[in-house]
Amino acid sequence: MAPSPTLPGTDESYWMDTTSTTSYPALTADVEVDVAVVGGGIAGLCTAWELTEAGRTVALVEADRIAAGVTGYTTAKLSVLHTLIYDKVRTSFGPDSARLYAESQQRAVQRVVAVAARLHIDCDLERVPAFTYAESPDLLDRIRAEADAAADAGLAASFVTETGLPFPVAGAVRVEDQAQFHPRKYLLALADDLTRHGGQIFERTRATGLTEGDPCTVTTEGGPTITARHVVVATHYPVFDRAMLFARLEPRRELVVATAIPAGRDPGGVYLTPEQNTRSVRTAPYRDGQRLLIVTGEHFTPGAGNVTEQWQNLVEWTQQRFPGTEIAYRWATQDNTTTDQVPFIGRFHLGTDRVYVATGFGGWGMSTGVLSGQLITACITGAEPPWAGLYDPRRLNLAREAGPMMKLQAMAAAHFVGDRVRPSRVDSIDDIEPGTGAVVRVRGRQCAAYRDDTGEIHAVSARCTHLGCIVHFNDAETAWECPCHGSRFAIDGTVIQGPANRPLQPRDTP
Ligand code: FES
Repeated sequence: MAPSPTLPGTDESYWMDTTSTTSYPALTADVEVDVAVVGGGIAGLCTAWELTEAGRTVALVEADRIAAGVTGYTTAKLSVLHTLIYDKVRTSFGPDSARLYAESQQRAVQRVVAVAARLHIDCDLERVPAFTYAESPDLLDRIRAEADAAADAGLAASFVTETGLPFPVAGAVRVEDQAQFHPRKYLLALADDLTRHGGQIFERTRATGLTEGDPCTVTTEGGPTITARHVVVATHYPVFDRAMLFARLEPRRELVVATAIPAGRDPGGVYLTPEQNTRSVRTAPYRDGQRLLIVTGEHFTPGAGNVTEQWQNLVEWTQQRFPGTEIAYRWATQDNTTTDQVPFIGRFHLGTDRVYVATGFGGWGMSTGVLSGQLITACITGAEPPWAGLYDPRRLNLAREAGPMMKLQAMAAAHFVGDRVRPSRVDSIDDIEPGTGAVVRVRGRQCAAYRDDTGEIHAVSARCTHLGCIVHFNDAETAWECPCHGSRFAIDGTVIQGPANRPLQPRDTP
């Protein structure tokens, strides 16, 4: 088994590379607050900030560092145009729901603009139009339907055939007044403002348990607890899954590359096409007056991609469409899509008025993360907006969801059973070359083994600690990934991304 070819560009997100690491303390003693927020990504931070604004006492716990998980690896488009969502929502939920979706998302975009202005946050915020485009005429009917549905939903939307892209399109939906920004510059300033107004942030504090009641108790890995009247689970994929949402969430990973372009070649907008395994384009201010072109695409189920090859596809596409460019950065991002395409934001399950969840943003975590903060705060403070029902996680319409749910479960079951009996790509640990990993049987047990560049083997259990599926090796990112619900682990077994909340156990090797 040979190591992957070297990929171009710095293996880091531009957002992470251009901001400082945070250093909030870990939780070392019990605290009592109005609201405990679990998860320090955009949804958790915006919820904590909105609640503090509303006069609630808040403690936020983050297993690692804030705004450094999925939020630190996003493409940071603040847009209400979510590929082809309006026609889907109009058809399956009705035109009123499409209008509520549009209004709630547009208010989230406006919230960022207003808060950035009020707090004087320098976060490279730029107002731009958003486009969903198609190069192939085969997709034109769907593009026209989306333009019609988006306009019908109240957005400044139109069908166009001209865009700022340097290649022709068959047609596009254009929506005015959207935005792009630097998510970490915005969120780190929000966190700073939150703590200056009495909110508490605890990093390197993994929440391990939740007892519901009045009050609720969140336990953490080190032992200290948070007692709170309300709890918000904003961990991307919910770590305390009281409503079995894993059966209604499809994880998806996507690759990103970034390259400098002259300012004069900026396409002037945020763009997305569902064609070619998706392609998305935006820009950001960059050094020496240039712009940084950020291209996303090549999505796959975690643990089931040929990641190196897919990254090469994305690099090739970028250099064909924007000739003469050198890749400066590359990173990957991950999200979950719900089985009816509308995010889950609100009360977690039928039996609770105290525990809230925000997940299933479908790749649109910026506007929807901000919206989560506004919506959950409104629910807790008793001022629910008209769109609370649309996003309510407790909805379950089998006519809409049964098909996608069965497909998801069939896929997970196929991995759960099939990956246990499928022969490994290598016969023994000795066959694993430096820089690569594989699942091999050691004394009858499946073991996830990685050989580092010095030749040392790092071996952990191959059974995902969420529900026991077998992890797969991601060659380009040197990580173990679970194809069932998207958990990710470092080579030493540490959890990088849930729903798993416990590390893969170390294994001795011969
Ligand atoms: Fe669910 Fe691994 S993420 S079994």
